[in-house]
Amino acid sequence: QGSSRFLMRYQALRGDPFGKLFGTAAARHNPYPHIEALRQRGRLVPTPVTWVTADYELSRSILRDTRFGVFILDNPSTPEPLRRVIRKAPLPANPVEPPSMLTIDPPDHTRIRKSVSAAFTPRAVGRLRDRVESVTVELLDALPSNGSADLIASYAAQIPIAIISEMLGFPDSDREHFLRWGDKVSPLLDLGLSWGAWRTAAMATQQMDRYLDGHIDRLRREPGDDILSSLVTAGNLDDRELKATATLLMGAGFETTVNLIGNAVVQLLPRPRQLEQLVDDPELWPQAVEEVLRFDPPVQTTARQALCDIDIDGRTMRRGTAVVLSLAGANRDPKMFDDPNSFDINRPNAQQHLTFSSGIHTCLGASLARMEATYALRSLFERFPDLRLAGTPELRPLFTLHGYSHLPVHLGPRA
Ligand code: HEM
Repeated sequence: QGSSRFLMRYQALRGDPFGKLFGTAAARHNPYPHIEALRQRGRLVPTPVTWVTADYELSRSILRDTRFGVFILDNPSTPEPLRRVIRKAPLPANPVEPPSMLTIDPPDHTRIRKSVSAAFTPRAVGRLRDRVESVTVELLDALPSNGSADLIASYAAQIPIAIISEMLGFPDSDREHFLRWGDKVSPLLDLGLSWGAWRTAAMATQQMDRYLDGHIDRLRREPGDDILSSLVTAGNLDDRELKATATLLMGAGFETTVNLIGNAVVQLLPRPRQLEQLVDDPELWPQAVEEVLRFDPPVQTTARQALCDIDIDGRTMRRGTAVVLSLAGANRDPKMFDDPNSFDINRPNAQQHLTFSSGIHTCLGASLARMEATYALRSLFERFPDLRLAGTPELRPLFTLHGYSHLPVHLGPRA
């Protein structure tokens, strides 16, 4: 069943010029020339399977338009035999398929998002600042003075997972499982997934599902002071919703912010003048983080589907048509950002990027991600002002999530 599901999905995407353009290793390595080529083809480019845009205004308006819903494979544009297969062999609760809030429309989306949103407001996130600081200091203390390290494994990946695990009430000892599962499930966000990657992801979702059954049972008996315990106690979500929410918060909580920290280091190291400015005035770190989010986004695309026939840009988009929004492309739209292909921490409107999306699905963890990255980067460069690359950073083999798996650095003497 799994195999036929995959083959049909793959065949639907394989012939799509967008899938070809964005599914290649070269495009993953450096997506930006491909995005510019797409921009040259027009504001909205129809292809046989999906429509695509890298236009800022159009992307933003689609994300905020209630005539568009989330994109899932079980939608009217998917051939009926494939929809039957999907319904017959659904993956266990996972972060990227219903009932995860990321992939459902109102009213269920509103109910589920509301059940957890209080924990992610800027004020609630402000209360986590001391904890982020102490995790950061602990990790920096453990780095070898004047030695080398892989900055992803020993630093960038550790901060977000420590914080989100604590928020959700998972024991420290289980973090390694989540890191492993996250690695295997993240490719589900990409187009034209290989059969092997799909199978690996499906197996990881099964393991996560079984783990969560046990964890939720324990929380029912002994609730703690964490987000999942309060969800279990409130009883507003059924078991599948609860597990999908847990996997989404966990996955989104660490799979993206690690990329933000890594991408920032890679962008800043070759720009010593901008780094110097940050060392002289650490108050500039939040705006530097915004420029990294704009220039090299940890999440590159999202998608929507038309819920009815929609006239757009002089064309009719039929109900069920999927439209892929290149968030990274919107962030480099010259109509919105001056000299968009240059990285400049002093850019006045960087924070208008679409990296956290827009509309009802706007990233729930944006304040948390911003705060974690700001602390992580500021503390890193304060402690190791001579930090430099010790080898070629290695990108993760993903397209939607964009960041490094390995980032070898010489730390230099401690400040
Ligand atoms: C949704 C990006 C960090 C939780 C989203 C979306 C994007 C995004 C683009 C919306 C996708 C869409 O509209 O289809 C990012 C980036 C991050 C980040 C770039 C880091 C730099 C986090 C963190 C959390 C989080 C730390 C914390 C748990 C969520 C949740 C949603 C979401 C729950 C779903 C919201 C909804 O559907 O209503 N994120 N995210 N994210 N993000 Fe983040």
